[in-house]
Amino acid sequence: MKSALPQIDERLSHVAFIMDGNGRWAKKRGMPREVGHRFGAETFRKIANYCRKIGLKTVTFYAFSTENWKRPPKEVNAIMKLMDRYLGEIERDIAQYDFRFSFIGDKSVFDEKRRARMKAIEDMTAGRESTLNIALNYGGRDEIVHACNALIAAGKKAVNEADFAAALYTGGQKDPDLIIRTGGDLRISNFLLWQSAYAELYFTDCLWPDFDESKLDAAIEDFYSRKRRYGGVL
Ligand code: IPE
Ligand code: IPE
Ligand code: MG
Repeated sequence: MKSALPQIDERLSHVAFIMDGNGRWAKKRGMPREVGHRFGAETFRKIANYCRKIGLKTVTFYAFSTENWKRPPKEVNAIMKLMDRYLGEIERDIAQYDFRFSFIGDKSVFDEKRRARMKAIEDMTAGRESTLNIALNYGGRDEIVHACNALIAAGKKAVNEADFAAALYTGGQKDPDLIIRTGGDLRISNFLLWQSAYAELYFTDCLWPDFDESKLDAAIEDFYSRKRRYGGVL
C-alpha cells in the first residue's frame, strides 16, 4: 500500500511522458503488439488521474508520433481504433475528467469527424485549471516548421523566443519540468524539441504498461533531488 502522496510545489508544474514499450510488453507475453497498446491505454488513464490527484498543473502524453506511421498498417489501425474508443470515453465522462484537454500535433491527417470530436472536447473543457496534452501525430520538428509557417503567414519578418513559443502547439503553456521515458531507450524521439531545452530527463527500463503510481513517485523524488541551474551557478 502506498503511504503519502508526493508533495508537489511550483518547481514541478509540468510532467511529460514518452509512453514507450507497449509492443515489447506484449511480445514478452506472446501476444500481438496491439494488445500492448490496449494495456498501455489503461496505464495512460491511471497515470493521468494520478497526476491530477497529486496536483500537477500540466501533463503531456506522447501517444503517436509523426514517425509512427511507418509501422505495419495493422498496428496503426489498432492504435487509431483505440484513439477513437478513448475519444468516446472522454465524451461520455467529460465531467469526470478534471482536465482541460489539448490535442497537440498535426491534426490535418485526421478526418473531419475526428478533428471535430477533438475540438469539441477541447472546447467543452476549456475553462478547467489543469491541462492534459495528448500528442497525436506529433513531431517536434513538424511542430517547429508548423510554427515557422504560422508566423510567416501572420506576416512576421522577425520573431523573438516568446513569439516562437506562442506559435507552437503548446502555445501559452509552461515548458515541461520533467520528461519521463519508459521502455529503456535513452532518446527523445522527436518529442517537445523546443520545450525540453531545460527539462529534467528521467529514463526507466519499466515498459509503459507496467508503469504505475509508485514508479511515478520515484521519478518525482528523483526530480526533487536534482539541481536545476539553467546555465547559472547555484
Ligand atoms: C509506445 O510503445 C507506443 C507508441 C509508440 C504508439 P511501442 O509501440 O513503441 O512499444 P515498443 O517500444 O515497440 O516496445
Ligand atoms: C516514441 O516511441 C513515440 C511515442 C511514444 C509515441 P517510439 O517507439 O516511436 O520511438 P523510437 O522508434 O524507439 O525512437
Ligand atoms: Mg517504442
